[in-house]
Amino acid sequence: MTWKNDQVSEVETEKILELARKCLAGTGDFVELGCYKGDTSLLLAEALQGSDHILYIYDSFEGLPEKSAKDESALGENFKSGELFVTKREVKERFLRAGYKLPVIKKAWFNELTDADLPERIAFAFLDGDFYESIRDSLKLIEKKINGIIIVHDYLNPALPGVKKAVDEWLINKQVKTSTFQSMIIIND
Ligand SMILES: C[S@@+](CC[C@H](N)C(=O)[O-])C[C@H]1O[C@@H](n2cnc3c(N)ncnc32)[C@H](O)[C@@H]1O
Repeated sequence: MTWKNDQVSEVETEKILELARKCLAGTGDFVELGCYKGDTSLLLAEALQGSDHILYIYDSFEGLPEKSAKDESALGENFKSGELFVTKREVKERFLRAGYKLPVIKKAWFNELTDADLPERIAFAFLDGDFYESIRDSLKLIEKKINGIIIVHDYLNPALPGVKKAVDEWLINKQVKTSTFQSMIIIND
């Protein structure tokens, strides 16, 4: 499967896949919070073929939520509540058409998810919820379970300033290694 994605650049995708492959040697499953149409999810599923790791993907499947004051940016006016709407069924059908094992697909707002909705241990997490509360809630959900690399998309995207605010708050008092690559922050590589 080749790269095709209007949300994540080709070089970012290559980096995501490189780091995901590195986590194949680790313990735990793979999660993507904010899967939208499943473009990155399909590539992750391809990378996981033949392994025992399970892919879990999450989305409201109702599009973006409301922004908070922390997300306000003149550059980000096109990111509105309800944008990026896709149905769970469409995403499921894409996996079936591609012939990949179906991931666990959960439809929920991130603040409705509980511990039980996530795998016991997480080897790789890709967080792509665009807004402050979405990223804050995603980090909270995975923090006790992560046992590998976290990638947060849009950390350096000036149109989505809430992402950096949520990550920087979460990083306070955490002894983790971080680096950035294009718009993304990579934690624990
Ligand atoms: C930029 S898109 C994700 C793109 C996808 N990761 C990819 O690589 O193609 C952001 C997605 O996050 C979802 N999302 C954002 N905040 C959310 C929240 N709080 N709860 C559930 N889904 C959320 C939106 O519905 C949207 O589909």
